[in-house]
Formats: sequence, structure tokens, C-alpha cells
Amino acid sequence: MDDLLAFLQRNRPPKSLIFDSQEAIYSTKPFLSFLKIKPEIHKMPKAITPPQSFLNSMKVAGGKFSFERSLTLETPTFIPKGVRFYETNSIGFLSYLSEESRFFNTTIGRYCSIAESVFSGIQQHPVDRISTHPFTYNWSLNPKEDLSCIFSPFQEYQAVVDTKAPLPNKDVPRTIIGNDVWIGRSATIKPGITIGDGAVIGSHAVVTHDVAPYTIVAGVPARTLRQRFDDKTIEKFLKLQWWLYNISPLRKDPSYTNVELFLEKLETLIKEDHIEMLRPETYILENENGQCRKHVL
Ligand SMILES: CC(C)(COP(=O)(O)OP(=O)(O)OC[C@H]1O[C@@H](n2cnc3c(N)ncnc32)[C@H](O)[C@@H]1OP(=O)(O)O)[C@@H](O)C(=O)NCCC(=O)NCCS
Repeated sequence: MDDLLAFLQRNRPPKSLIFDSQEAIYSTKPFLSFLKIKPEIHKMPKAITPPQSFLNSMKVAGGKFSFERSLTLETPTFIPKGVRFYETNSIGFLSYLSEESRFFNTTIGRYCSIAESVFSGIQQHPVDRISTHPFTYNWSLNPKEDLSCIFSPFQEYQAVVDTKAPLPNKDVPRTIIGNDVWIGRSATIKPGITIGDGAVIGSHAVVTHDVAPYTIVAGVPARTLRQRFDDKTIEKFLKLQWWLYNISPLRKDPSYTNVELFLEKLETLIKEDHIEMLRPETYILENENGQCRKHVL
């Protein structure tokens, strides 16, 4: 996972694309003045859909989804239709997503279950400009979502929207979803949040603070309901980190369905060096000027 994080850090958008010097102009100058300014265009890559042949060869089940800059995948994984990845994201072994969920700069651990319409790390609209509406910036993401595109038949709107102003979502912090996390339907996770290993997020929760490992949270804003296990058991889960190992040989063992036995057994196997690390096939999909490239890690 350390290697993955290092890769993701390296692939953040370069600072030179961020237009710090323009920011003050757009937040304070009168409306008409910004129509005259022509700063460089912040070019977000257009989102692309990986070819089905790539997905089959990588053991990615599901349907048509789109990603923007890069997507790192430990496989098998399941990504159904309508899922959208903005910027740079990664998904760990056997995690599965559900329809219409969206992820912005999010790292997802192994064995996660993510329900429909979950929004993670999605950027905010600017609240310190003359308007929160995207006419104050050039929303050049997927053309289908690009407001200048939606309104292109209307010339008056084009004159306002086509300002090439900087995007407001600069430096969106990375959102981290740990291993074995279950996220209920329609939950929203604010950018920069860390959800600990083994946590559970209730349906429709709005998560505004980090969530401790093995903790169940729910509500708006999300509050702790309870822990999944007692402190000692959680400590053991976090120490042993079962998701790092190939646990499949234990499948027929009685410990597989008993938390206490499982942790005991795993501890012994690790001590005696009788269990191997899990080494899933890992791929990086990259968007190179609209072409999907596949790299094996
Ligand atoms: C969060 C969740 C896991 C909690 O389940 P639970 O531990 O069985 O919780 P309980 O039903 O005993 O409820 C405990 C308390 O939390 C409240 N609560 C439960 N789920 C809640 C939610 N999603 N939002 C707000 N409050 C919630 C209950 O009203 C109850 O409050 P009370 O003590 O004041 O009466 C579950 O309710 C949930 O949201 N699951 C996600 C389901 C889903 O989206 N599945 C998609 C398919 S993957």
C-alpha cells in the first residue's frame, strides 16, 4: 500500500496548472472585469471509458465506468456502470463498488463494500466568488458534464462561461478509505477524510470527520453509533492486518467464521512464517491524451 500511496502522490496535478496568482482576481474583482481576462486554460483530462478487452484481461467485472487521470487497481475487483473517478484513484483487492458512485482523489483499501450513489472526496463549488455557479470557472471535465457544453446553443451564456477562469477545486486533499470498510447507500464523504480499517458508514451519512477503525457511524453529520468489537479485539485486528495475507488456505478452517479463533490462528501462522503475503495482480490505467493505457505493476 505504501508503494501505491507514493505513486498516487507523484501523480497529483502539477502545481503549475493551478493558477494561484489568478485566484484573487476571480474572488474579488467586479463581474465584468473577469470577462476581459484570458488566463491559461486549466485542462483537466477528459474522462475516458476503458475498453472492455482491458477490463476482461485485468479481471475487472461490472460495466462501463469512466476515469480522468489514472486508476490503480488490484484485481479482481467490480466496478459497475455509471461509476465515475475524478483525478487519481485506486482500489484494493476484492473491493466492489455500486452504480452511480463517484470518487475524487480517493484511495480505497482491500475488501471494501461500497453501495450505490456514494460520493467520496467530491470537490466543492467556490463560496467566496460572486457566485457558486460554475460560470466563474472553466469546467472542462467530461464534455457531457461541461456546463459550457450544456449551454453551448445559447450565445449569451457562452460569453459569460467561457472565461477560462481557474478551477476552484485546487489542492483537493486525498480521501482515504481503509481496508474492510462498508459504506452504505448514498453516503457522502468530504474530501481529505480518513476512514479507518474495518469501519462502517451508515446509509445517507455525511462524513465530515475522520472515522476511527472498526467504528460504525451514521447520520448527518456522521456520529459514532458503536464499535464493531471490544478494544482488545480491535487492537488485534489492527496489529495483524489480515488483509495483507493470502487467507484463502484458511477457508475450510473452522476459524474462518469465528473472530477469536481466526485472530489466534492468524497470529500463530504469522509467527511461524506459515502464511504468505497477498500479492494481487495490480494495474494502472492511465489517460494519455484520451487514450487508455494499461501498465502492469
Ligand atoms: C449504520 C448501520 C450499519 C447500523 O446498523 P445497526 O448497528 O443494526 O444499527 P441499529 O439499527 O441498531 O440503530 C442504532 C441507532 O442508529 C440509528 N441509525 C441506524 N442507521 C442509521 C442511519 N443510516 N442514519 C442515521 N441513523 C441511523 C438508529 O435509528 C438507532 O438510533 P437510536 O438508538 O436512537 O434508536 C445501518 O443502519 C446502515 O445504515 N446500513 C447500511 C445499509 C445499506 O446502505 N446497504 C446498502 C447495501 S451494501
